[in-house]
Amino acid sequence: MNKPDGKFCLRIQTAVMAAFGVAVMLALPTMALAQAKVAAPATGGNHTALFVGSATCGECHGEVYERWQKTRMANVVVDPKVHPEKVLGNFGTKDPLVNFSLADVAFMYGSKWKQRYFTKRGDDYFAQPAQWDVQNHTWAAYHAAKGTDWWTAFYPEPNEQRPTGPLCDGCHSTNYNIVTKQVTEWNVGCEKCHGPGSEHAAKPTRVNIVNPAHLDPMAAVDVCMQCHSQGQPRQNPIKGVYYDWPVGYLPGDKLSDVWKLEEHKLGEDSFTHWQDGTAHKNRMQANDFVQSAMFTHGVTCWSCHDVHGTSNNADTLKPAMSNSLCLSCHAPGSPNGPTGTTLAQHTHHAEDSKGSACVSCHMPQIAKTIANVNVRSHTFHFISPAETEQFKIPNPCTTCHAEKNTEWAKQQLLLWSNVSPWRVGQ
Ligand code: HEC
Ligand code: HEC
Ligand code: HEC
Ligand code: HEC
Ligand code: HEC
Ligand code: HEC
Ligand code: HEC
Ligand code: HEC
Repeated sequence: MNKPDGKFCLRIQTAVMAAFGVAVMLALPTMALAQAKVAAPATGGNHTALFVGSATCGECHGEVYERWQKTRMANVVVDPKVHPEKVLGNFGTKDPLVNFSLADVAFMYGSKWKQRYFTKRGDDYFAQPAQWDVQNHTWAAYHAAKGTDWWTAFYPEPNEQRPTGPLCDGCHSTNYNIVTKQVTEWNVGCEKCHGPGSEHAAKPTRVNIVNPAHLDPMAAVDVCMQCHSQGQPRQNPIKGVYYDWPVGYLPGDKLSDVWKLEEHKLGEDSFTHWQDGTAHKNRMQANDFVQSAMFTHGVTCWSCHDVHGTSNNADTLKPAMSNSLCLSCHAPGSPNGPTGTTLAQHTHHAEDSKGSACVSCHMPQIAKTIANVNVRSHTFHFISPAETEQFKIPNPCTTCHAEKNTEWAKQQLLLWSNVSPWRVGQ
């Protein structure tokens, strides 16, 4: 009865409740109810199968494997000795920030926004103090200062003393083992999203492998949220070590059993959030998305992205700027909105204008990844100029019309009869 995880206790209680109904439930002491609430019922992840690695999946799923291999998720972590062509940082000319050489680098992370460099000491990897800003083609210091990421309080200075195992690798690998510090493979392998596949690979059926599309929409988005969120494990430290990723989670499980999202108080600017609760930092697509009406209507991340790879930026199903992605579910007059009879009536810009691209107004680039480079917001909420006044969050109108001020944008919107002045004008 006294098993530390309380699972045995729970099973007994559940049986009691089922047998005797609500009356008994109400009669249970408060202690027992509190325990029942904490100990979660068995969830859907497969915790008995073993990890076999993406190459094994590729033997039967060749087409998916070929595409996936070219995605960024399959190439986040790279050894520069194996792939010298993937080194983006300029190691040719001297820079005071760069006090290490490529020969010291065991792994590089990233290729799109920033590239970071890691050295191996013992059985851990540690970050070098300079990172390459890919878009601005320049070196930048790399250091998580105290009071930024929550975990800086528990780790020594400088960055070079902070191991990537607990702080990074769970999200940049498949099956990171916190005891042996070994991985099945680096990068986001098939099984990171489909769960361990030994049973399926040995005897393929549709029920012994997780297909995120067949999970309920909440557990489904958890598959992406395990990495695309800022949060912390509910129980931390784990065996004395503070982790920044959801240790123990497998696809099909309920992520919130082991992970909580970074907290936010309305009206406060924080390291992670704007005052209104929109993400201010990269890797928060899921923190954002759960705030959208699309999430509560069963739209998932893969309603818009094919993570096995497409030829579009960010692996979207259709090119984002063309509007065809959004218009596959939305059209003026559709029950999903927007209101109006033509696109131009909704956007008040010519149909082919940048000011008519859905993403320009509903997915502004305001989540900082490095320097002045931002990734897109995923709340899909239109941030009005009135919210800029109230919450100091940039609105898409004056971000694009940089020469105009907030008051101008507010006045313009008040002229738009299709949007409510109660929602955007004050
Ligand atoms: C020996 C061949 C083989 C291997 C290896 C294999 N699969 Fe499959 N997989 C299949 C077959 C066949 C099906 C279709 C089964 C059916 O329709 O009954 C399938 C179906 C699936 C499905 C779809 C399930 C659904 O809901 O329709 C997924 C997802 C999947 N495999 C992922 C994987 C992953 C991930 C791996 C690696 C861990 C893997 N497979 C390894 C043969 C294989
Ligand atoms: C980043 C997460 C992720 C990774 C990595 C991933 N998948 Fe998937 N996979 C998904 C999601 C989500 C779906 C459901 C998508 C849908 O139905 O639109 C899916 C669907 C599938 C399916 C069934 C539908 C289809 O397209 O045939 C197969 C088979 C599959 N994946 C195999 C693989 C294999 C093999 C790999 C590795 C080479 C892999 N996946 C890597 C997330 C992932
Ligand atoms: C193991 C952690 C992990 C999981 C699980 C994961 N991602 Fe990712 N994802 C990453 C990392 C890391 C990157 C950054 C890759 C890079 O830039 O090198 C990334 C990048 C992306 C990108 C941008 C790709 C580009 O080319 O710009 C998209 C889109 C994306 N992920 C969607 C998803 C979706 C949808 C799911 C769930 C089906 C998912 N991811 C699951 C870690 C993960
Ligand atoms: C909870 C999961 C998680 C943790 C922990 C994590 N990352 Fe990431 N990382 C991601 C995801 C998801 C992305 C891509 C999405 C985004 O940046 O908005 C990403 C993106 C990146 C990129 C940019 C890739 C590119 O192509 O520009 C780098 C570099 C990176 N991470 C390094 C690190 C380092 C170093 C650590 C540890 C200090 C770390 N990450 C911790 C999930 C994680
Ligand atoms: C798979 C279908 C689908 C796709 C693709 C899609 N949407 Fe939606 N969207 C919906 C549904 C369903 C709703 C909820 C409608 C309702 O409230 O009744 C919605 C709601 C919205 C809303 C209302 C506010 C909110 O909280 O989300 C906005 C804004 C929106 N979508 C923008 C977009 C944009 C921009 C794109 C393209 C990047 C897009 N949608 C792509 C299905 C979709
Ligand atoms: C120039 C800016 C702008 C562009 C571009 C834009 N929208 Fe909107 N959208 C708005 C505003 C403003 C609202 C009203 C917001 C509110 O009431 O809080 C809105 C609201 C919506 C809503 C909620 C229902 C409604 O009509 O109020 C949906 C759905 C929506 N937009 C979808 C889209 C789609 C899909 C596209 C691309 C085809 C798009 N929007 C392009 C500014 C824009
Ligand atoms: C309604 C459509 C839609 C949904 C749902 C959606 N995304 Fe996106 N996502 C986009 C579009 C559009 C872009 C921008 C692509 C571009 O700029 O070319 C994007 C960009 C990204 C990027 C690249 C970073 C950037 O902003 O350039 C990542 C990572 C990402 N999405 C992850 C996710 C994850 C994880 C989820 C689920 C939690 C998700 N997305 C849900 C439409 C969507
Ligand atoms: C991504 C860029 C972009 C965004 C976001 C955008 N616009 Fe525009 N806007 C333009 C462009 C480009 C034009 C030039 C005419 C055209 O293409 O339709 C324009 C023209 C205008 C005009 C008419 C000419 C002028 O300058 O007086 C008004 C008014 C206007 N926009 C208001 C707004 C408002 C209000 C918003 C926010 C709801 C907004 N715009 C968002 C790009 C943008």
